[in-house]
Amino acid sequence: MFKQPFVTVEDARRAAKRRLPAMVFDYIDGAAGEGLAEERNRRELAHLMLRSRVLQNVEKRSVAGKLFGAPTKLPFGIAPMGMCNLSGPRTDIHLAKFAAQNHVPVAVSTAASTPLEKMIEMAEGNAWFQLYYTADQSAAEHLLSRAETAGYDVLVLTVDVPEVGKRPRELRHGFKMPFKIGPRQFIDFAMHPKWSVSTLLHGAPSLANFDGSQASFDRSASRAGADWIYLKQLRQRWKGKLVIKGVLDVEDALRLKDEGVDAIQVSSHGGRQLDSAIPPILALKAIREALGEGFTLFYDSGIRTGEDIVKAYAMGADFVFLGRPFQMAIAGYGAGGAQKLGTLLGEEISQTLAMLGINSIDQVTSSMIVEP
Ligand SMILES: Cc1cc2nc3c(=O)[nH]c(=O)nc-3n(C[C@H](O)[C@H](O)[C@H](O)COP(=O)(O)O)c2cc1C
Repeated sequence: MFKQPFVTVEDARRAAKRRLPAMVFDYIDGAAGEGLAEERNRRELAHLMLRSRVLQNVEKRSVAGKLFGAPTKLPFGIAPMGMCNLSGPRTDIHLAKFAAQNHVPVAVSTAASTPLEKMIEMAEGNAWFQLYYTADQSAAEHLLSRAETAGYDVLVLTVDVPEVGKRPRELRHGFKMPFKIGPRQFIDFAMHPKWSVSTLLHGAPSLANFDGSQASFDRSASRAGADWIYLKQLRQRWKGKLVIKGVLDVEDALRLKDEGVDAIQVSSHGGRQLDSAIPPILALKAIREALGEGFTLFYDSGIRTGEDIVKAYAMGADFVFLGRPFQMAIAGYGAGGAQKLGTLLGEEISQTLAMLGINSIDQVTSSMIVEP
């Protein structure tokens, strides 16, 4: 069938929607509640304006970034996502290869569909491990020691999921891992034969970090027991860098800094948790102002263009991550989709820098933002 050229992230979303069963598309694309958190954040990002400057000689532009002092080819990486192989066979591996090529991190979810050892190998070391709190401490310890042995240096603890947000689009399809295939799902899969046949040929995606071990993973389990005591214990236990993901509140951010974490990832989980959450792009600015320059802040949620990426830097981020667009790119445009996405966002960032009269991401400052 005629394929729309991949020019914007929205092209990838549309292509993915055609290709994926509705249950899978709605799992990836969906958000909490009525989608207000996601929408509000997109609106705030759209409202922010950038100051364009002229006659600055912007011939020597670079889209390179820096992460914990090390150079990256692009100023954005891949946020942790569970069950990426639902987008198509070997999606995780394509993501890992993107990370290797661009020297940016792929964050490997606890709920990944490829074992964490394989991911860091394919990413040539450019992988971070993302942990969810679990009441079973021995299961978490098992994962941590596997991550250490595999060579992970950065651990991301996701803290915005004391309970999984209510996501109506998932609930209506009866989305569960592993799949429960009833008549409704059967029809959905039958209507997307290309996806179904290739998924069948490669074997249904599984929660690969738990295959063969005694512990299992329940994505709907309560994580309500996570608290500041747990954070202290984890800080003592993990000798590498510790990033705390899913923070929106200034008081929490200040306390996390005091607890000695290495970085905070400001995020609303892509609007998938609290529907009434404040827009993370505004939280980022407030947290940067409270914590001052020098403390490492990352950002994800709702980034869809190169201009969005530049805006996140201007609001205080030291590095930016994208989630859904990577899965949509691979679902819609196959194995090369991630690199196409990287290239198009890189070009958009470069164009944006030119218009702002600067040559690199590290020249982006808060004074380049114009609020309405
Ligand atoms: C399908 C999907 C699965 C996700 N799984 C995880 C996960 O396992 N761990 C985690 O910390 N965040 C997870 N997230 C949240 C992302 O890491 C990230 O915060 C979010 O996708 C960013 O928003 P964006 O998709 O608008 O870029 C997931 C997001 C999606 C879309």
